[in-house]
Amino acid sequence: MHPNRMMPPTPMLETQRLILRPLGTQDVPAIQRRFPRWDIVRYLDAKVPWPYPADGAARYVANCLGSMARGARSHWALVPRRGPQEAIGLIGLKPDDGICFSQCGFWIDPEFQGRGLMMEALDRVTRYAFDDLDWPHLWSTNAQENQPSRRIKERQGARLVDLVIGRHVGGETTHMVWLLTRESWTSTRQSARRKARPAKSRPPEATAEAFT
Ligand SMILES: CC(C)(COP(=O)(O)OP(=O)(O)OC[C@H]1O[C@@H](n2cnc3c(N)ncnc32)[C@H](O)[C@@H]1OP(=O)(O)O)[C@@H](O)C(=O)NCCC(=O)NCCS
Repeated sequence: MHPNRMMPPTPMLETQRLILRPLGTQDVPAIQRRFPRWDIVRYLDAKVPWPYPADGAARYVANCLGSMARGARSHWALVPRRGPQEAIGLIGLKPDDGICFSQCGFWIDPEFQGRGLMMEALDRVTRYAFDDLDWPHLWSTNAQENQPSRRIKERQGARLVDLVIGRHVGGETTHMVWLLTRESWTSTRQSARRKARPAKSRPPEATAEAFT
């Protein structure tokens, strides 16, 4: 493997509401309990065994630990700062190998969906990829019907570059291929911050404009 494609040991990352800690065997019970639901797996890669076997999480985590030890991937367990002190979702990240268009995989328990948690977690992982690993871009994919996953790519500033046929647990469907460059992500974040800034901290002319 090319040295630039080696992942360093997976670091612990933090966001406002989440701790992203390197995946470990202690996460097996929570994954086995939270992951095997149709709403989670239907748009995931057809490699995911379905129906999910009783040792599905144990096997998955063992594989992940192997690939982390080889420097091939990073995997994080998402643990809420408030709430259950266990994994409620996962994120995996791998370098661009020039073959696979999916460098980042993720899921979160439906109980915690729709609160912006994955957006928050992925922004942190994306910052890690661009700032710490110095990657120039990130490839990602999703089933066209997977609206939340698609929104995450759009909101991060990714560009839709292709539509291909993908095989998911739920069957064959159109797959969207996205490319997020560091430049696009940085400028998207900057403009999101400008919009989020409270009016009183904006320059006077900008505030006046907003009311005309
Ligand atoms: C994709 C997934 C991780 C999103 O997690 P989440 O924490 O609910 O996402 P967020 O709350 O950060 O929302 C992300 C965006 O999706 C939108 N969204 C969330 N749920 C939605 C829904 N059911 N329908 C349409 N849009 C939805 C949100 O509104 C948000 O967009 P916005 O910022 O424009 O409002 C989650 O749905 C999931 O685990 N799905 C199953 C696994 C999966 O499909 N993984 C991705 C494979 S490519």
